[in-house]
Amino acid sequence: MRKGNGRMIDGQTRTCGVIGNPIKHTISPLIHNTLAGRFGHNLVYVPFAVEDGGLEAAIKGAYALDILGMNVTVPYKGEVIKYLTDADPLAARIGAVNTLVRAGGGYKGFNTDMSGLKRAMSSEGISMEGEEIILLGAGGAARAVAYLCAEQKARKVYILNRTIEKAQAVSAEINEAFGREVSLPLLLSDHAKLPDRRYLAIQATSVGLEPHDEEVVIEDEAFYKKVHTGYDLIYKPFNTRFMKLVRQAGGRAYNGLKMLIYQGIDAYELWNDVKISTDDADYVFDVVKREMGL
Ligand code: ATR
Repeated sequence: MRKGNGRMIDGQTRTCGVIGNPIKHTISPLIHNTLAGRFGHNLVYVPFAVEDGGLEAAIKGAYALDILGMNVTVPYKGEVIKYLTDADPLAARIGAVNTLVRAGGGYKGFNTDMSGLKRAMSSEGISMEGEEIILLGAGGAARAVAYLCAEQKARKVYILNRTIEKAQAVSAEINEAFGREVSLPLLLSDHAKLPDRRYLAIQATSVGLEPHDEEVVIEDEAFYKKVHTGYDLIYKPFNTRFMKLVRQAGGRAYNGLKMLIYQGIDAYELWNDVKISTDDADYVFDVVKREMGL
């Protein structure tokens, strides 16, 4: 099988890539080269492993080499901000950037993890506006999701975590940033204290990730009766235990693969003058699913 985007590289080929460490398991090249192939764009997307201490040189070098756009992944999403000329307001607020767009004199940072989550949810008819949301986890991923929930005008965000101090810290930060008491911290084991109503629940811990497919942060069926929609940021396995428990209790459940696809699509749109339709997104989704054996 031919790898890459399927066309010849020539003198006009544009380059994009992803910076991280480690980077060998990234699926971003698959997403972007699939899009370039579909649109017939003369663009290649490659992984760049950047060693500890090499980020500033990498960003400057990328600019000097006329790299069109970059993604940034673990562990550089926070650190990269100080090497940018500008940042989108939500990305700046979160303090995490995963997409760099070439602008005059340097790169502008965006957070398409969050715009991608919003778009993935909206493609399933899910909106955060006016919702009471349960957020499971208070780590890096959950913190970014908490910002998105508040920015999207959620009515309440209950942050449930094993370590209460982290949930308290994220809650306080969100309430301060948005100037309203939108978020409340709770211990995971205190989930029964959640007011008796139905929620959108977002699973943002690392629990249940392959190969620990049968693990989940809350087992109690009573909890799942309160969930009308469950959204797991994990996509490996394709059906997590969290999703199964949501469905068993009568709710709808989704995994994080569409979020992953849409963070790529949003970045691709920022770099190229193109609007990607739902059909194009579904095409990429199928390619990625097949290549990943999901
Ligand atoms: P990420 O960047 O993926 O968010 P992280 O910042 O390390 O990773 O956060 C991991 C999240 O998963 C945290 O909310 C963590 O809970 P703690 O803050 O209590 O550590 C949660 N997590 C990981 N393992 C867990 C477990 N076995 N039970 C419950 N929560 C767990």
